[in-house]
Amino acid sequence: MRVAVIPGDGIGKDVTAEAVKTLRAVGEAFGRSFDLETLPYGADYYLETGISMPPDGYAMLRDQFDAIFMGALGDPRIPDMRHAREILLGTRFELDLYVNYRPVKLIDPRLCPLKGRNAEDVNFVVFRENTEGLYVNMGGRFKPGTPDEIALQEDVNTHKGVHRIILYAFEYAAAHGRTRVCMSDKSNALGYGHALWQRVFQELAPQYPDVEPVHLYIDALAMQMIKNPGQLDVIVTNNMFGDIITDLGAQLQGGLGMAASANLHPGQTSMFEPVHGSAPKYAGRNIANPIGAILSAALMLEHAGLVREAAEIEEAVKAAVMSGNVPPEIGGSLGTRETGDFIAAEIRRRGARSTVDR
Ligand code: IPM
Ligand code: MN
Repeated sequence: MRVAVIPGDGIGKDVTAEAVKTLRAVGEAFGRSFDLETLPYGADYYLETGISMPPDGYAMLRDQFDAIFMGALGDPRIPDMRHAREILLGTRFELDLYVNYRPVKLIDPRLCPLKGRNAEDVNFVVFRENTEGLYVNMGGRFKPGTPDEIALQEDVNTHKGVHRIILYAFEYAAAHGRTRVCMSDKSNALGYGHALWQRVFQELAPQYPDVEPVHLYIDALAMQMIKNPGQLDVIVTNNMFGDIITDLGAQLQGGLGMAASANLHPGQTSMFEPVHGSAPKYAGRNIANPIGAILSAALMLEHAGLVREAAEIEEAVKAAVMSGNVPPEIGGSLGTRETGDFIAAEIRRRGARSTVDR
């Protein structure tokens, strides 16, 4: 398996090192070989060369790699985030990675900020549309810089885009024994774009008799995520709402440092990244939580069909969390690297044991 590794900026570099360490441990323990190629794209490279991503970069990622692993992008020296948009959003758009899959799964009740909630209550997945909506950055300005300025930012919803993400959510639910798909929009206010989401959802739902279709406006969904997360199973929503509720979802599982994501186009090269950003003030200080990145590596293996290996990573992470061998952010006292060491050792231990079992 050939993987393009783009550590990016800030703590992206710190956590990517631990995801790579984890992959190497999986390789050794379970006899897999991962060909990991590190690519330099990010703030430093952009400031040196003026290039965020070379012109043939997206095609190279798509055609020469089986998967892409990204750390995080964002640097205070580039306030308009141009390089981040081109590298991260550019990869999503150019590779047409229309599914942003973000599981929300609580490992240890201690990590949940809600009273009395346990691992069964916080276990759902979010499918965020990843190629359109407000993120296409279409619009314009009139009379810029004056008190009469008009700034338009269009919310693009295509039938193709809405249909394929809702279909993916239903297919996922049916294939994974999930019983409920909740589509969330703001169609009570946005009568064109979000009415399309309503229509497509109602068209597709009857084809999945074993899946209960549920609709919640996005504000109500935000409320229910706190009030009663146990009712949630599969959520499908647009790009912007998905961005917002997955930060909320991250907190339910112990913070942004815990949250993993996959940017998918079924059958094509896909991209895997933690949900968190580059957190410049924590960069290089051995304090960032690498678990979101490590679990994103697990999603990458799962997507490549290495289901057993992915599960082993999850178990190793669980062992680290339950035994407190984690960074202070989630109640331990280890650094980023030591957390990665613990998880890698746990994977090797599990691999050795499974060899004995055989
Ligand atoms: C995310 C991030 C990005 C997004 C930013 C960095 C553009 O917040 O992956 O959730 O909004 O998609
Ligand atoms: Mn986000």
